[in-house]
Amino acid sequence: MRVETAGRSARRRDSRWTGFASAAACAAVAWLGLAPLPAVVGSARAQASETPSPGGVPYVPTPWPVVKAMLELAQVGEKDFLIDLGSGDGRVVIEAARTRGARGLGVELDPDLVQVSIDEARRLGVAGRALFERRDLFETDLSPATVVTLYLLPRLLRELQPRLMRLRPGTRIVSHDFGLGDWKPDATVKVDIADRAFGPPFSTLYLWIVPAFVNGTWEGRLDLPGRAETWRLDLRQNHQELAGSLRIGNGRGLLEQPTLSGDRLAFSAIVDGPGGRLRHAFDGRAVAGQLTGTWTVNAVRPAASGAGPASSVSVHATARRTEAPTRQ
Ligand SMILES: C[S@@+](CC[C@H](N)C(=O)[O-])C[C@H]1O[C@@H](n2cnc3c(N)ncnc32)[C@H](O)[C@@H]1O
Repeated sequence: MRVETAGRSARRRDSRWTGFASAAACAAVAWLGLAPLPAVVGSARAQASETPSPGGVPYVPTPWPVVKAMLELAQVGEKDFLIDLGSGDGRVVIEAARTRGARGLGVELDPDLVQVSIDEARRLGVAGRALFERRDLFETDLSPATVVTLYLLPRLLRELQPRLMRLRPGTRIVSHDFGLGDWKPDATVKVDIADRAFGPPFSTLYLWIVPAFVNGTWEGRLDLPGRAETWRLDLRQNHQELAGSLRIGNGRGLLEQPTLSGDRLAFSAIVDGPGGRLRHAFDGRAVAGQLTGTWTVNAVRPAASGAGPASSVSVHATARRTEAPTRQ
């Protein structure tokens, strides 16, 4: 997906944020470590005194088309509670409340920016849903969040990453321009910003969906028509990426394309057994040490005896985790 910029309307709306929007190009020089142009250095100094950044991170507002794309990427809706860490002038939280009916909290060290955010939320009639606090993002309780948005430097993201990885499974995290170390995003989007004052003419957005912790061994019982089987699933997990194997009776197969999105787990494997060569597929959820879902069995090569299923069979399946390696 590539979202086109709505340049003119974005510029028009940016004028609401007078005093801060003009800082973008200057702060971006320090922000991205770009070689500053002489003309920019002067205004950057002036801006720096007007807009101190107590966290040592310059304030650079996310361009409006990018704000919209971030909310779209996270599929923000009325049921969401969005937390913007380092919320600047509050635009991400306010836009989420105004256009998507979400509730949210912005935390920001700079008291002037917090006040701008509160005033703007009030002006736009969303003060009840868009809250702002002067607070260090590292001292912010993230547990109410269903969506976390970030436009922070890599060193802050590195420090934050362990906390982000432990958010409730299914929480969506969207970061503007910077990734989260070795945690591969679930989706990446480029947003064209033709009139961007610095860097490439686009922003990159990354989406992560916090995966459930499913690493380890799971055991369950499969009640197929006419017979019951025990199954054992061995999963190795690297964030949302999985590998492993499925054992049913004495047969074993490697997992084919296992997927994990939040607590939603799906996998399949071909396993030989008395019923012939069968493809087993699971689609369900991993919640509180229990797997629950639908198990579908298809004959790949039926048993000569005719003991296996002639066509597809679906049953309800559950399993408990019997062994979980310590979480990193
Ligand atoms: C690049 S700006 C992003 C602003 C806003 N999120 C947006 O996307 O438009 C980063 C903001 O994080 C704030 N910040 C930096 N460190 C912080 C910290 N430890 N706690 C809270 N805010 C912080 C800065 O003051 C700055 O306003």
